[in-house]
Amino acid sequence: MLFLLFSVCGASQPENTKGVEVEAMKSKKILIVYLSRTENTKAVAEMIQEKTGGDLVELKLKNPYPENYQEIVSQVDQENEDGFLPPLKTRIKNLENYDMVFIGFPTWDMQLPPPIKSFLNENELSGKTVIPFNTNAGYGLGQSLAQLRSLCPKSEILKEFSVEGGYEKQGVLLAIKGEREQKVSAQVEAWLRAIEILK
Ligand SMILES: Cc1cc2nc3c(=O)[nH]c(=O)nc-3n(C[C@H](O)[C@H](O)[C@H](O)COP(=O)(O)O)c2cc1C
Repeated sequence: MLFLLFSVCGASQPENTKGVEVEAMKSKKILIVYLSRTENTKAVAEMIQEKTGGDLVELKLKNPYPENYQEIVSQVDQENEDGFLPPLKTRIKNLENYDMVFIGFPTWDMQLPPPIKSFLNENELSGKTVIPFNTNAGYGLGQSLAQLRSLCPKSEILKEFSVEGGYEKQGVLLAIKGEREQKVSAQVEAWLRAIEILK
């Protein structure tokens, strides 16, 4: 019945190549997990979701970080120093059903945010394809990719997408909006083609 429904939907829009790509992606189960405070990484995650049809999950913490920027910076510094892994409220059901896991994060303290370390520590991604994406204030990814590689030693890690997002320290929160959102969306699409997620 479901198959019939897809066939009918497909037949009704033969010109829509995006639709065809999304249908093709459904053979590979895609999960998009992200952490975002000021919604720049969330904007990129939603673009990936729209283009691939994957399942989108935002990582939430049991004890949320402070709203205040200086306080979160101090707390994250301390957590990194102590190797503290903050407990997550978000649990991924049926992770074993996914073949590809996009992992999105802002650069914090020039490395992976502690909640992403918690996620990689708690979830077994061996044998899966892991695809990192990132936003930052213009200083790049720092140590985060090296940390990701060491936390997912048995995953195939594809080329990342990284783009400038907000700069909370200077009062710039969500920067990926309006015209900038369209530009970033085109960059995301080009990247997804380059890594052969989209044909
Ligand atoms: C605690 C904290 C630490 C940060 N550290 C860095 C950093 O080391 N390098 C950098 O380029 N940006 C840093 N940023 C800025 C974020 O990476 C940037 O604003 C990003 O786009 C935020 O993503 P989001 O809107 O999804 O939360 C930091 C932001 C926070 C809140």
